[in-house]
Amino acid sequence: MTETTLGSHMTRRTFVSVGALVSGSVVFAGLAGCGTADAENSEEPSQSKTVENTPEKVPTVYFVHAVDSEALQAIYKAIAKHLTGKDIAVKLSTGEPGGHYFLNPRLIAPLVQAVNGVIVECNTAYGGRRSSTESHYQVATEHGFTEIAPFQILDEESFISLPVENGFHLNEDLVGAHFFDYDGYLVLSHFKGHTMAGFGGALKNISIGLASREGKYLIHSAGATSQSWRSAATRDFLESMADACKAVTTACSNMIYINIMNNLSVDCNCDSHPAEPKMADIGILASTDPVALDQACVDLIYASDDNNADLIERMESRDGMHVLEAAEELGVGSRTYELVEITTEETPAQSNKAVVFFSATGHTEPIAGFVSQAVGADLLRIEAQKPYSEEDLNYHDRSTRATSEQDAVDVRPAIAGELPNISGYDVIYLGHPIWWGKVPRILLTFAESVSLAGKTVTTFCTSGSSDIGSSADELAAVSDPSATWVHGKRFAIGTDYDVVAQWARELGL
Ligand SMILES: Cc1cc2nc3c(=O)[nH]c(=O)nc-3n(C[C@H](O)[C@H](O)[C@H](O)COP(=O)(O)O)c2cc1C
Repeated sequence: MTETTLGSHMTRRTFVSVGALVSGSVVFAGLAGCGTADAENSEEPSQSKTVENTPEKVPTVYFVHAVDSEALQAIYKAIAKHLTGKDIAVKLSTGEPGGHYFLNPRLIAPLVQAVNGVIVECNTAYGGRRSSTESHYQVATEHGFTEIAPFQILDEESFISLPVENGFHLNEDLVGAHFFDYDGYLVLSHFKGHTMAGFGGALKNISIGLASREGKYLIHSAGATSQSWRSAATRDFLESMADACKAVTTACSNMIYINIMNNLSVDCNCDSHPAEPKMADIGILASTDPVALDQACVDLIYASDDNNADLIERMESRDGMHVLEAAEELGVGSRTYELVEITTEETPAQSNKAVVFFSATGHTEPIAGFVSQAVGADLLRIEAQKPYSEEDLNYHDRSTRATSEQDAVDVRPAIAGELPNISGYDVIYLGHPIWWGKVPRILLTFAESVSLAGKTVTTFCTSGSSDIGSSADELAAVSDPSATWVHGKRFAIGTDYDVVAQWARELGL
């Protein structure tokens, strides 16, 4: 991963030069818990403190031109060390049914899984299927989010009040009651226009997006009521959004922000019929400062020479930039920032370690995520070309698929799609369930098909009770003899992060 400091066309902002990239791998520094400042690690100003606009203190906004999963993971790694803890919430918008510009689950899946995140959302305040918990869960499933990660509606039962100090209009922000269930938040926002706020990015995601229905009423009415929909004057509404941002970032400083600038419609994902985008995708941006991040996105819209007139008109006609002014005034963050470009072309692997795993019923998957987090490894999944059905896995009947595969010596079930590309990694952690005391045959397909030459490989598994046994020996027997195999470990189903992380770190690979 390489980086360049930009600044040529953006004369309104302050840019300073930087040294080497802060981090090339995922680092989870410990269990800080939501609301515990990560001051030791923080290079950028905390979003909950007033930011002085001096060159030394300006926050960094990282930018990558591409919009794909690899770029998303690369940019995440630039700020990953600022997100600590094991229970990570990924806040995004599930998108109003009918619309189709919400974040694509396939795009974000590798990142969400790498942080072992739970996708979180809150119910909407207007009508529609996302306004009630039950149908909102259905929408999340229909839109593909529940397939890639656990999902929770933070205000599914109720809301809690967060205080707003010295706010413009609000003295409290009402957020989903599960807000504090998480150690930290990865705020993943689709940047686009918005019919009321002018644009939607990180600030909108943590204000309106984290507010319960009552909280949304409160923000929209600029503090007048939490019981029904009432619209305040535009500037008052935007200032109330800033108030809510202040409440959230004060309550939880363990938050990092990524904005994806694709499908740049003038309309939001809360619109069931958003206007077609006229601009091409711009890229992905990330920061620990949500004000700097949204400001950088706005600046990139202005700097674009690609049909940006409609989106600029949408932002300006709604006085959209006022939320940035208000949030900066409250000390949520800084409108002055340093933009650092990250390029990924020459870096097929960001880490020299990869966790490659197969999980038929979902027990090995979280363990794989824990290993990935603990050692900063990329997470690669093996899936069967023909997925294993419940009946296939029924081990009470020896004639069913998984069991008969285990009984046969030479069966090699096909892997779906392309084989995981492990060429850039030196260390491989192979994760799998135990089937009839052995490694599932599909892991042998993998070990035979890729080159493990010169790599260090260890294994881990989950099982009902059996130990890891000779799984590694079986794998070693069919793979390149120059690989070094390190004895692996069996974990009980549901083993905690700390236990897995301790094993992975103590291996010292
Ligand atoms: C076909 C089959 C055979 C299994 N054989 C064993 C076994 O021999 N010993 C054991 O402890 N658990 C056994 N299990 C249980 C799995 O190892 C356990 O549920 C594991 O955590 C599944 O991981 P996964 O959810 O990631 O697929 C078996 C499960 C299946 C489906």
